[in-house]
Amino acid sequence: MNAPRLAPSLPLAPADPRDNTAVARAPTVLFVDQSGQLGGAEFTLLPLAGLCAPRSEVVLLSDGPFRTRLEALGVRVRVIGDVRVSRIRRQSLPFGWLRALPAIVRQACALAREAKRFDVLFLNTQKALVLGALGKPLHRRPVIWHLHDIMSPEHFGTAQRVVVKWLVRHAVDHVVANSHASAQSLAALTGRASDTPPVVYNGIDTHAFDTPVAEHPDDVAALRRRLGLPEHAWLAGLFGRLAPWKGQHIAIDALARLPDVQLVLVGAALFGEDAYAQQLREQARRLGVADRVHFAGFRDDMPAWMKAMDVVLHTSTDAEPFGRVIVEGMAAGRPVIATAAGGVTEIVRHRQNGWLVEPGDDVALADAIRTLHASPELAQRLARQALVDVRRDFSLDGFLRRMTQAIADTAK
Ligand code: UDP
Ligand code: GLC
Repeated sequence: MNAPRLAPSLPLAPADPRDNTAVARAPTVLFVDQSGQLGGAEFTLLPLAGLCAPRSEVVLLSDGPFRTRLEALGVRVRVIGDVRVSRIRRQSLPFGWLRALPAIVRQACALAREAKRFDVLFLNTQKALVLGALGKPLHRRPVIWHLHDIMSPEHFGTAQRVVVKWLVRHAVDHVVANSHASAQSLAALTGRASDTPPVVYNGIDTHAFDTPVAEHPDDVAALRRRLGLPEHAWLAGLFGRLAPWKGQHIAIDALARLPDVQLVLVGAALFGEDAYAQQLREQARRLGVADRVHFAGFRDDMPAWMKAMDVVLHTSTDAEPFGRVIVEGMAAGRPVIATAAGGVTEIVRHRQNGWLVEPGDDVALADAIRTLHASPELAQRLARQALVDVRRDFSLDGFLRRMTQAIADTAK
C-alpha cells in the first residue's frame, strides 16, 4: 500500500509571493469559481485570490459565504448567477446541458466581457472551465485551469467528460492539477500522455494549526468543553461536507463495531445532499449508536476541532483528488486514518505518517481505529512524522509561489 512519494512537478518560483514588488509586476487575473459555498476548491483559491487582490477580481457563478470570505481579504467579487446553469450536476445527462444552453451562452459572453479587462483568466472549477473556455474566441485571453478533480466516470457523467476533453484541447492554455491522481486522470481522458498537467499540491497555513492546545489531558478537556464535546470519551473526528462519496456512512458502520469510541462529524451538506444527511442520522439510530455520533455541522475553527480529536478519519469511497482535511489533520498533530485511493496515497504513507485502509471497508476502518486506540505510542509516532511531512510538503507559501509562477507562465 506504500505509494512512491511524488514531488510536486512545478519548481518554486524564486520570488517571495508576498513581496509587494513581485505582486506589482504580476499579471492581472480574473478568477472564476462556480460556487458560493466553502468547499475545498474554494478554500484553495481563497489565499491565492487574497494575495493577488490588488490586481485581480473574482467572478462567482453563485452567491454564498465564499463571497464574504473573499471580500474580508480585500478581494473584489462579482456574482453572475443563473439557476439553469447552477442546476446542472456532475452526472447530468446531455439533455440537461442542452436545456441550459441559452443560459450557458449568455454567461459565457458575460464572462468574456469581464475577462477582456485582465491579462489571464483563471478557472477554478468545472463550470468555470466550461463557461470561461467557451468564451475564448470572444475574450482571447490566456486561460489557466486549476484541476481539483479526478476526471473518472465515477465522479463525472459522459457529457461533462466529453466537454472537458474538447475544451482542454482547444481552449485551455495551461492546466495545474492538485495531485498526480487528478493529473493522470486528465491524460487518461484526453488519451494523450503529453496532456498530463504539472502538479501543485494544496498548501495549508500550518501556523494556524500551531496553537499548543490539547497536548495535556486538562487542555483537551477544556477544549472539548468549549466545543460542546464529551470531555473524557475517545473521539474519532471526520471532517468534510456530508456527501455519499465522502463516506460518512462507512464511519458510522465502523462505529457500530467500536463500543468505546465516539464519532464527531464536522461539516454540512453543501451541495444539496440533505437526504444523505438525514440518512446518516437514521443509520445511527438503526444501529443503536445515535448517542455516540455527534453532528457538529459546518465549523470555521478547524484547528481547534481537529485538536479535540484522538484520531482524524478520512473515509471517501471514491478516489479523493487531494483531501485538504487529511493534510489539516496532520498539521493539527493528530494521527490520520485515510482511504488509499487517488491523491491520498501521495500524502499518507501507511504506518509511517498515517494509516491507510481500503475505501468502503468499514471492517478495516474499525480495525485501524482499534489499533490506534490500543496503541497511543504508535498513534503519536505517526502524528509526529505527519507534522514533519506536512510542514515540508504542503506549506501555504510553497503553494502560493508555485501558483503565482504558473499564472505568470500562462500570461507570457
Ligand atoms: N471545512 C470547514 N468546515 C467544516 C468542514 C470542512 O472549514 O465544517 C473545510 C476543511 O477544513 C477543508 C475543506 O473544507 O479545508 C474541505 O476540503 P477537502 O479538500 O477535504 O474536500 P472537498 O470538500 O473539497 O472535496
Ligand atoms: C476538490 C477535491 C478535494 C481537494 C480540493 C482542493 O474539492 O474534491 O479532494 O482537496 O478540491 O484541491
